[in-house]
Amino acid sequence: MSKKPIILGIESSCDETAASIISENEQGKPLILSNIISSQVDVHKKFGGVVPELAARAHINKIDWIVQKAIDESGIRKEAIDAVASTAGPGLIVCLSVGLSFGKSFANAMNIPFISVNHLEGHALSPKLNSKLNFPYLLLLISGGHSQYLSVKKVGVYKRLGTTIDDALGEAFDKTAKLLGVEFPGGPQIEILAKNGDPNKYQLPKPIFNKGGCNLSFAGLKTAILKLSKNIKNDQDKFDVAASFQKTIEDILYKKTKIAFSEYEKDNKLKDKIFVVAGGVAANKKIRSVLKNVCEENNYRHIFPPINLCGDNAAMIGMVGLEKFKMKKFNKLDYPAKPRWPLDVTAAFLKGAGVKL
Ligand code: KG4
Ligand code: ZN
Repeated sequence: MSKKPIILGIESSCDETAASIISENEQGKPLILSNIISSQVDVHKKFGGVVPELAARAHINKIDWIVQKAIDESGIRKEAIDAVASTAGPGLIVCLSVGLSFGKSFANAMNIPFISVNHLEGHALSPKLNSKLNFPYLLLLISGGHSQYLSVKKVGVYKRLGTTIDDALGEAFDKTAKLLGVEFPGGPQIEILAKNGDPNKYQLPKPIFNKGGCNLSFAGLKTAILKLSKNIKNDQDKFDVAASFQKTIEDILYKKTKIAFSEYEKDNKLKDKIFVVAGGVAANKKIRSVLKNVCEENNYRHIFPPINLCGDNAAMIGMVGLEKFKMKKFNKLDYPAKPRWPLDVTAAFLKGAGVKL
C-alpha cells in the first residue's frame, strides 16, 4: 500500500480564513480530512461590504488557530503533511499575503514543498472533492468577483469561452440586496426573499441577451433595481423585486448556457458532455435547478459541488494542491501574491496585448 499525499490547503483571498487537510484513498478518490472556515461576516456587516484592512487583520488574528484546528480535526500529525498549498490570487492583496506568508513559513519550517494556487482553479476543481470528474468539461464559474464560461481541458489548461463584460453575478446579487436594504452578504438573502415573491411582477432588462456568444452582463440590472427600490412600500414589494431579479438571472443563464454548450462542442471532441457550475452563486438552489434542466434538455451530465463547497473554502485549495503535488509542480518561497490572475491562456494573451481584464 503506497503512502498517499497529505496536503494542507490555506485560503485567505477575501473574507474567509480557511484551512483544510486533504488526501486520497487507494482508488485515488479525494478525502477531506478536515475543512475549517472562519467567516468574517460580523466584522464587515456594518460597512455593507468587505473592508480590506479589517479583513487582513482578522486573517492575521485567526490563521494560526484555524490551521492548528484543521490539523487537530484531521487526526494526522503535522509531520505527516507532504506539502502546503496556499491561495496566491486573485483577491485582495492584503488578505492574500496573510495565507500565502503563513503557508510559505509552514512549508519552510517543515522542509516540505510549497504550492501556490489560483483561487479560481480551486473553484474549478471543487466538484472533484465529492464526484468522479473526468476532463474535459464545461465550467460556469459564478462568484463574487468572476462570471465565466471556461472549457476545462485538464489541470492548468483552461480556455475562456465567455465572461461578464461588467459586474460579476455575485456582485449583482450583493448590489441588489443592498438596494433592498438587506444585510451583507446579500446573495443568500435574495434567494430567501425571492421564495415569497412573484417572479413575473417586473420585467427587468437583460443586457446583451440577444447578442450572439456567451458573454454576460449584469450592470444594467442594478440601475433598474435602483429605480424599483425607490417605490418599495412593504415586504411583499421587496419579495417581488427579489423574485423578479432572480428570475431574470435564471433566464439569462438558461439562454447563455445553451450558447456556451454549442461553443464548447465546436472546440472539443466529446464522448461525455459534462457541465460543472462552481463558485458562491452556485449555492443558489433555483439557479442550480434551471441549470440542471438545461443540461437534461441538451444531454449534458451536470456535476455541481455540494452547497457547502460552493463558497470560499480551503478544501478546494487543497484539492488543487493534491493535483499539483502529483504532477510535482512546486513553487519557490518568493512566489508573489497576485491580485489579478486570470485562469486562462487566452486572457493572459489579451493582457499582453494591453486589454484590461
Ligand atoms: O465564491 P465566493 O464565496 O467568493 C468569491 O470568490 O467571490 O462567492 C461569493 C458570492 C457573493 O457575492 C455571495 O453573495 C454569492 O456568492 N452567493 C450567492 C448565494 N450564496 C452566495 N448568490 C446567490 N444565491 C446564493 N444562495
Ligand atoms: Zn471564491
